[in-house]
Amino acid sequence: MITLLKQVMPKSLLGRSLMIIITPLILLQIIAAGIFFESHWDKVTYRLARGVAGDVSSIIKLLKHFSKEREGFFWVQNHAAGTLGLIIELEPGKFVPTRAQTGNNNLERMLIRALHDILDAPFKIDNETLKRDVLIDVQFVNNTLRIKVPRKRLFSSTTYVFVLWMVGSSLILFVVAMIFMRNQVKPIRRLADAADDFGKGRSVKEFKLEGANEVRQAGAAFVAMRDRILRQISQRTDMLTGVSHDLRTPLTRMRLQLEMMGDLEGITDLQKDVGEMERMLDGYLAFARGEGNEKEKNVNLLDSVTNIAEQFKRQGKSIEILIDDNFCVKLAPNAFRRAITNLIENASRFAENIYVCARKRSGGAEILIDDDGPGIPVAERAKVFRPFYRIEQSRNPGTGGVGLGMAIARDFVQGHGGEIKILDSPRGGAQIKIVLPT
Ligand SMILES: Nc1ncnc2c1ncn2[C@@H]1O[C@H](COP(=O)(O)OP(=O)(O)OP(=O)(O)O)[C@@H](O)[C@H]1O
Ligand SMILES: [Mg+2]
Repeated sequence: MITLLKQVMPKSLLGRSLMIIITPLILLQIIAAGIFFESHWDKVTYRLARGVAGDVSSIIKLLKHFSKEREGFFWVQNHAAGTLGLIIELEPGKFVPTRAQTGNNNLERMLIRALHDILDAPFKIDNETLKRDVLIDVQFVNNTLRIKVPRKRLFSSTTYVFVLWMVGSSLILFVVAMIFMRNQVKPIRRLADAADDFGKGRSVKEFKLEGANEVRQAGAAFVAMRDRILRQISQRTDMLTGVSHDLRTPLTRMRLQLEMMGDLEGITDLQKDVGEMERMLDGYLAFARGEGNEKEKNVNLLDSVTNIAEQFKRQGKSIEILIDDNFCVKLAPNAFRRAITNLIENASRFAENIYVCARKRSGGAEILIDDDGPGIPVAERAKVFRPFYRIEQSRNPGTGGVGLGMAIARDFVQGHGGEIKILDSPRGGAQIKIVLPT
């Protein structure tokens, strides 16, 4: 029951706040209308019917009184039409059925009740034949007296006016509330969008503080947080670039000096180490620089991955690609290229066959890179994302590089608000699963 209620309830803030305003309003109207119809309307209708019934009764009494006089009936007829607004006719020799009548609606029921209370002769009402009048047939001696009563006399139109006002005013109230609430919700939605964009690594345009105090406060906190994070990122990048750059100069000097020292014992090992350090620094510099502020574009995954795969195919690896054509995702193209290249490069180092598959998922894109190599042990899966971490520690260039590939791939994925995971591949090796929001 509660879960059903939760499903039906509006999810958006605008929907919820409108519901909070509208529910009491509707309840109030139902209660007010209930009370009004129960007592007021019944009472008014009965009193009007009672008035008409009184008139009918006095006409009958007058007719009885003047029936002996010659022009008596015409006099009463004129009097009824002129003073009471009722048209009477006599239908000689006709009888009114004595069977009791039940009304179909409030007006009929009240009129029957009132006539019943006042008259002692059989009567019949006809509410349908005429549009503007109600016909009342009353047994009068051996004839039927037909009285035409204007409908207006039995019906208070203010009832409908009241209901119309009630519904109309609540509609106006609803529209006004919606306009106001929309304006209140807009800054919250803008804040949510800005936070979402920032989380996905997109640049957030100038964020203007607006709305209620609490929303402004949240907005100001977001701006402060964003600025702090951006400052930290740029500080980190500056520092890493600086350190790497500064180390390169003495390293280059060392390499040159080693070359000039000729064929001394152990010099090749030293040269290898210096080369390794240079490679590491290059990797570090590239990593620290990141992709900068590369603009996002709609990237066709099939085209981009096929392009990357070409260079690996030339090295004799088999890469199978399973991506729908015209499957586009909005992302930074070069960063994406670098991340996927790193992952395929890893797989190609350990496996013969590589499988790249991408598909649309609700709210995102999923990219899978499978291989049939030895896989990555569960205990190592979190560690391989660390910069400079390699499972095989020997730093042998044959089994790995600097140890930055996975870190770069993760940086890219997280920068786009996505997720990257290492799983067991059904192909036997490792499976890298990337989920990117769209
Ligand atoms: N597909 C894979 N199969 C088995 N092991 C893998 C696979 N991908 C990565 N690894 C392991 O994870 C470690 C970290 O990978 P990462 O790409 O970060 O560094 P790297 O490949 O050694 O160096 P770089 O990519 O910087 O040249 C690798 O050294 C390797 O041991
Ligand atoms: Mg790698």
